[in-house]
Amino acid sequence: MSSRFQAPRGTFDILPGEAGARARVYEAAASAFERASYGRIETPIFEDTELFSRGVGESTDVVQKEMFTFIDQGDRSLTLRPEATAAVCRAYIEHGMHRLPQPVKLWSWAPFWRHERPQAGRFRQFHQLNAEAIGTDSPLADAELILLLGDLLGGLGVPGLRLRLSSLGTPSSRAAYREELTAYLRAHEAELAPEVRERLAENPLRAFDSKDPDTRAAMAEAPLMVDRLDADDAEHFAEVRRLLDRSGIDYELDGTLVRGLDYYTRTVFEFESDRLGAQAALGGGGRYDGLVEQLGGPSTPACGWAAGIERILLALDEEADEPGVDVFVAASEDQRERAFALVRELRRAGLRAELDLAERSLKGQMKQADRLGARAAIVLDEQQPAQLRDMTSGEQRELDLARAVEELGP
Ligand code: HAM
Repeated sequence: MSSRFQAPRGTFDILPGEAGARARVYEAAASAFERASYGRIETPIFEDTELFSRGVGESTDVVQKEMFTFIDQGDRSLTLRPEATAAVCRAYIEHGMHRLPQPVKLWSWAPFWRHERPQAGRFRQFHQLNAEAIGTDSPLADAELILLLGDLLGGLGVPGLRLRLSSLGTPSSRAAYREELTAYLRAHEAELAPEVRERLAENPLRAFDSKDPDTRAAMAEAPLMVDRLDADDAEHFAEVRRLLDRSGIDYELDGTLVRGLDYYTRTVFEFESDRLGAQAALGGGGRYDGLVEQLGGPSTPACGWAAGIERILLALDEEADEPGVDVFVAASEDQRERAFALVRELRRAGLRAELDLAERSLKGQMKQADRLGARAAIVLDEQQPAQLRDMTSGEQRELDLARAVEELGP
C-alpha cells in the first residue's frame, strides 16, 4: 500500500476559507504603501548562497542552521531566501538604483524559508510583508517606517500590540561595547546556558535573546548598547524618539532588543502581540547602514522592516470566509447548455453565479444552491417558463431571462 503524502514539516496549505483574511491584510498593506510612495518589488525565490551568508551574517542562526541550501546542475550553491533585505539590496545595486532620486522605497509580499523547529506561529515556509527605504540616513525614514507598520497593524485591528525600540549604534561604537559585554559574560560564564557560552566570542549580543532563566538573570545587570551610543548615534536615536513621541505612538525603550540578523546599525524595533505565545514578534526591523556597501554597492544608509503574515493572521484570529453566491442556475438535463451560457452572462455582469457541474437532478441542484448559501436560484426546466426563486423566503415567480441581470442586480 502506498503511504499518504502530507505537506512537508513546517509548511501548510492555504485553503479557500482562509484566503479572504489574507487578502484583506494584503489590500490594507498595498494601499498603505501606495499612499506612502513605496514601489512594489519582487525578487527571485532563490539567490546565491553567499548573498545571505555575507548579508545576513555568518554568525546568525539563520545562516548557521536555518537555510534551505542546494547545489544546482551547474554546481552553484543556491539558497531559498530566508529574508528579503539582502536580496532587495542586491537588486538595488544590480539595477543602479543609487542613480535614482533617493531614498528608493520598496515593498514586497512573498514566501520565505527557514529550517526552524516548527511550533505555533513558526513555520519553515512563511510569508512576510517587507518594506525598505534605501538611500537615506534621516531619522524621518526610521519614524516613517515604524509608523507605517504601527498604523497598518493598528488599522487591521491586531489586538495587544506592543512596540519595543532600541539603538545598536554603529559598528565603530559597537566594537568597544562588544568588548565590555564579552568581559561581562566571561565574568558570568558559569551562569550562562551552553549555547550562549559557545557563541560568546562570535556573537555576544545574542545572549540577550536567551530564554534560559539563569542566563536571563545574569543578563539583567549586563551593560546595554543603548547606554553606550556615541554622540552622533545618540542624537540620531533621540530624533527618532522625538518624532515617535510627537506622533502619539506608544513604545517601550528596551536596550535588550538585539534582533537576529547581523546587518543592523542604529535604530532597531519590534512589534509584538500579547495574543501570540512564545513567537510573539509580529514584525521588526531597523537601520542597516552598512549592508549595501558590504554587498558591493556604494556606501548607502537604509532602513526597513518585515512582518510575518501568518503571525498577523494568528493574532487577528478571524472567522473563516463565508462562501457567497448571488444566484444558482438550476437546469433540467436538456436546459444545461442554456444554463451554462446564462451563468457566463451573469458573471460578466458582475454577479457571483454558479451552476451544477456534477450532473445532479433538479432537486439535488436546489439542495446544492442551499448549501452554497445562494441568495436566489433561477430554474430552467423545459416543462415551464424560467422561474426565479428567492432562496430565503422560498417565493418563486416567472422570470423574463432578458431581464435576469437587472432583476438580480448586485
Ligand atoms: P525577522 O525579524 O527575521 O526580520 O523577520 C520578520 C518577521 O517575520 C518576524 O517578526 C516574524 O513575524 C516573521 N517570521 C520570521 N521567521 C518566521 C517563521 N519561521 N515562521 C513564521 N514567521 C516568521 C527580517 O526578516 C528582516 N529582513 C527585517 C528587515 C527588513 N530589517 C530591515 N529590513
